Amino acid sequence: MDRIAITGGAQLNGVIPVSGAKNSAIKLMAASLLTDEPLRLTNMPRLADTRFLGKLLTRLGVSVTESDGPDGQQTILHAPEITSGFAPYDLVRQMRASFNVLGPLVARSGQAKVSLPGGCTIGARPVDLHLQALEALGAKIDLHEGYVYAQAPRGLKGAEISFPIVSVGATEHAMLAAVLADGVTVIKNAACEPELVDLQECLNAMGAKVEGAGTPTVTITGVARLKGATHAVIPDRIEMGTYAVAAAMAGGEVRLTNARPELIESLSVKLEEAGATVVRTEDGVIVKRNGSRLNAVDIETAPFPGFATDLQAQFMALMTTANGESHIRETIFENRFMHAPELMRLGADISVHGGEARVRGVAQLEGAEVMATDLRASVSLVIAGLVARGETVVSRIYHLDRGFERLEEKLGACGAQVRRIKGDGEPEL
Ligand code: UD1
Repeated sequence: MDRIAITGGAQLNGVIPVSGAKNSAIKLMAASLLTDEPLRLTNMPRLADTRFLGKLLTRLGVSVTESDGPDGQQTILHAPEITSGFAPYDLVRQMRASFNVLGPLVARSGQAKVSLPGGCTIGARPVDLHLQALEALGAKIDLHEGYVYAQAPRGLKGAEISFPIVSVGATEHAMLAAVLADGVTVIKNAACEPELVDLQECLNAMGAKVEGAGTPTVTITGVARLKGATHAVIPDRIEMGTYAVAAAMAGGEVRLTNARPELIESLSVKLEEAGATVVRTEDGVIVKRNGSRLNAVDIETAPFPGFATDLQAQFMALMTTANGESHIRETIFENRFMHAPELMRLGADISVHGGEARVRGVAQLEGAEVMATDLRASVSLVIAGLVARGETVVSRIYHLDRGFERLEEKLGACGAQVRRIKGDGEPEL
């Protein structure tokens, strides 16, 4: 398996273009199941997760064509007909969000059999709210031997769906299913993440009638059919935030482009509180830090526009060398501190008590061998490696490849000493 080696100590100076958002791209790809016309997605990231979903969609009858189009990386998805309504375990378990094909499949062809995704290292992550939404829309749901059987032979019916807790995936799933339902659906206590607004824009370009995404109430007036469309994927706010933290960690000046500053405002405020300079620009941010040490600040993760749980590990890495003690509270997932013991291998002083971690800043981290445990945790180890003395080698980086496009190239272009070591132990040419 590939590893990444980072030699610490170099400042970051340069420009990093932000890719299209993984978390949005994979839901938009699933929307292609809703129409027999082609859906062209531009600003598409090329990642392991988009490949996984492409593989699954192909199996369901979607032709998936990746190319470089007039406006950059694009994927054209075309499902003239659904040839199978079966999403097997081996494809769904590789990426939980694959489960979101269930709603569009039932909406378009009246039935589906989709594997339950199973657990995941950051928490139990059940799908009860997804199923509750589909049942509210009139689907008959049965669970057998790890599979969800969903049926709505006479189509889905608009309904009121009131979520007891905020869930990004369940809100998206309900939207994907309700666009072809008969009548009006109102989703209450909807997630407000920017990726939902992106999904709404794409669905509306396809002829759907969705309003309110980005607020707690989303209203969908069902239509009989959807058509093809072209849609540009929203910039990846987690990738953007990750490089903003990396710049604050290593020092120097990094300009993030092809993005939008408001997508990471809650992070920018915390970076400024810690002593970094963040300049909001038209297409991103510039993050600067002079030689001085950052100050410890506290964070608590929350649904958007709060501090993103997907940036918690990176911020913890930043705090390992800050001046003072930082408290980091995780409120979204119950087991999302697995990066803490790995950061401690680099010399960080961290203690975890339930959903809260206390980080006492140390003057210097030391390079070591560490292991990536999940997608965002793995990049926090790379960030720590940027300032650790000597070499840090991160193994199991397939997690990283799921969500960060050309990471070594992007950091390397700013002066970081980062290289990939291929599975056989030989550096990649
Ligand atoms: C999405 C993001 C993920 C991010 C998370 C929170 C994608 C592919 N992933 O994940 O990167 O960290 O939002 O911003 O977009 N829950 C239930 N029952 C359900 C569904 C969720 O109890 O049916 C719980 C989860 O266990 C979790 C909380 O709700 O504790 C929030 O999860 P959710 O917002 O659904 O996250 P995902 O959509 O899985």
